[in-house]
Formats: sequence, C-alpha cells, structure tokens
Amino acid sequence: MTEGLRADDAGVLLLSRALATVDPRGVLVVHAGALPGLRGPATRIVLDVRELVGARDRCIRADDGPALAALRDFSDAAVWPRAHLGKDFSFACLALGARALRPGGALWCCARKQKGAQSLADAMVALLGNVETVARDEGYRLMKSVFEDQRDLALAQQWIDVRYAFTEPVLGPLPMHAAPGVFSRRELDDGTRQLIAHVAAWADRVGAAPAVVLDLCAGIGPLVRFASVRFEHARLLAIESNLVAASLLRDNLADARDRLTLWVRDGLPPPAQASREDGGVAPGSVSLALVNPPTHAERGALVALLRGLRPWMAPGGDAFVVVSRAGVSSEGLHEAGAHVDATTVAGYTILYAHWP
Ligand SMILES: C[S@@+](CC[C@H](N)C(=O)[O-])C[C@H]1O[C@@H](n2cnc3c(N)ncnc32)[C@H](O)[C@@H]1O
Repeated sequence: MTEGLRADDAGVLLLSRALATVDPRGVLVVHAGALPGLRGPATRIVLDVRELVGARDRCIRADDGPALAALRDFSDAAVWPRAHLGKDFSFACLALGARALRPGGALWCCARKQKGAQSLADAMVALLGNVETVARDEGYRLMKSVFEDQRDLALAQQWIDVRYAFTEPVLGPLPMHAAPGVFSRRELDDGTRQLIAHVAAWADRVGAAPAVVLDLCAGIGPLVRFASVRFEHARLLAIESNLVAASLLRDNLADARDRLTLWVRDGLPPPAQASREDGGVAPGSVSLALVNPPTHAERGALVALLRGLRPWMAPGGDAFVVVSRAGVSSEGLHEAGAHVDATTVAGYTILYAHWP
C-alpha cells in the first residue's frame, strides 16, 4: 500500500461522504487515492505509480505539468494532505485544487489538529477567502472553502511552483534539485549522509569497484549520484515509485545519463519480468546495493522490498541499508538469503548484507 493512503481512514471517509452525492465527473481528487463511495470515476492526481494499479478514475500523473495546468472547471476538489510529505506539499495540493475550480466550486480538505489542520485552514482562506468546518470525526476536521468571487491564482501558482536545490561535496559539484512531495527535499537526509560516509570508507578499505550499483528506493537520487561520482565506471540502476522524485532523479543524474537505468516502479521486478524492463540490467548482476528504505512503509511492504533483492544480487554482492530501527529490514534481508551485520552510527543502524 502507498504510504499515507488508507481507504478506511476516518478522514478519507469524511471526504468521501461529502462527495457521495456529487456528479463524480466534476470531482478532482488531489493525492487522496481512490476515494470510496463516489458514484463513478472522478479525475485523480497521483503521486506514486502504485496508485495507478487498478484505477478506475481518470488519473493525472503528478509529474505531468501541462496536464496539471490544464485541469479546469471542476465543481469540487478534494485534498488529502499527506503529512509526512510536508506542509509545502499540502499547500501545493490545495493550490492545485483551488486553481481547478469553476465559480461556485468547493475546495475540501480533511486533517487533524496535530497534523496542521489550522495552517491548512489558513491556507484555504489565503487561496479562496473563506473556510468553514463542516464535519468532525475521530479528531479530523472536514473543511470547505467556496470559490465565491475571490481566488488568488498568483498565490496558488507560487505554491505549485516551489522548487529546491542543494549542493553537497560528496555528491559532486552540481546541485540536487527537489520539489514538494519528495523525500529529503531541502537538504541531504542525515541517514543518507551516514550511509554515504560508511560506504565510502568501506570502498576505500576493500578497494571496491562495483560493476553494477543499485539504488533501491532512490528518491531524488542522492545515493545513486554518490555512486556515479565514487564509482565512475559502474552501471547504475535506480528504482523509485514516486513520479515526482523519479522525474527529478533523471535531471539530477543528467551527467551520468549514459550509465543510468531508472525504473519507476514498485520495488524490483521479479526476474521473469526483467526482460520487459528496458536498460539491460540483468538479474544476478548487482554487485552493490544502497538502500535508504521508506520509513512510513508497512512492515510487510518493507520486508517485501528487501526480499526482492535476492534474485538481483550477484554472487559475492554487497548491500548497505540505513535504518533507524533494524528489526524489520534485517528480517527482509535474511529472507533475501543474505548474511547480515549491523553497525550503529550517530543514531542510525547500517545493515551490511552480503551474499557469499
Ligand atoms: C527514505 S526515502 C529515501 C530516498 C533516497 N534514497 C534518499 O536517501 O534520499 C525512501 C524512498 O522510497 C520510495 N519508495 C517507497 N516505497 C517504494 C516502493 N515500493 N518501490 C520503490 N520506491 C519506493 C519513496 O517514494 C521514497 O522516495
């Protein structure tokens, strides 16, 4: 399941109930997943490829700027703020919804107090000049703003256009580009930094020169960028399911474009499916895997992600996984047939897995 999306969540159900009687052809669902209870297919903005599986809605990919800009004339826009992705992402979602409304249309948003409901209400007032709380359940507050006669499109555009860039010596001289809705958007994540330092020291010690480096759950690509700089002859494989992150990764690795294969998908494919993926990286060929796994993934999903390494690792291959709690990831690596050692550094655990 995609992090932050649960069809049975009390807040999602509040949103669904509010829209249950509306003509779904006029409904824009902004990053809320498939809302249960709609009378038919709506238009839905999706951030992650996993949201496309089995979708009956008309799905618009979050990395498709022109398609997003063309969204107009909706009677309702429902926003589900995914708190772990940050306030800037929630604001951009509200802005996408507000921009797409027709006069008289309504912007809906559901959030808990602890997850910033008041700042979202303030943002709705900034965009449309009004907000009303129309229902509450299990700590959630369902908020509604109506596009009456005032809409701040300049502000909406400003929130939609937010972009970030940061540089890190260990990632080479070029900036890493990022945007709301992706992990580690303003700076290098601390866990990623620890993992890079650890792998760099290991590579010095053993004289590592991996032929194929995999970055599983690559985000905007700091680990694969590090690998491109540190192992300048390695073939690079990056896997990421977030569409916006994957699109940024492609830009962030432009310098190593000829060596890079990017698969925008849910984890590693089963080997039988590998021939259908492009890029020519074969099962059994990964000599070094680097992983900073999703912290909000459910236990089963995380184990499955790491278990998927098994058929891709080369004999004698090595993997490094950085986590804040080792248990689940260690289990996934054991299920992948690896020998696992753990080292603790600066509040993180780095799991070293090897396939003898
Ligand atoms: C903790 S972030 C790490 C990102 C990057 N490696 C870094 O160090 O900054 C985990 C990433 O895994 C991605 N992800 C989560 N589940 C995934 C899946 N099933 N398949 C591929 N990527 C996934 C998320 O979108 C997120 O970008």
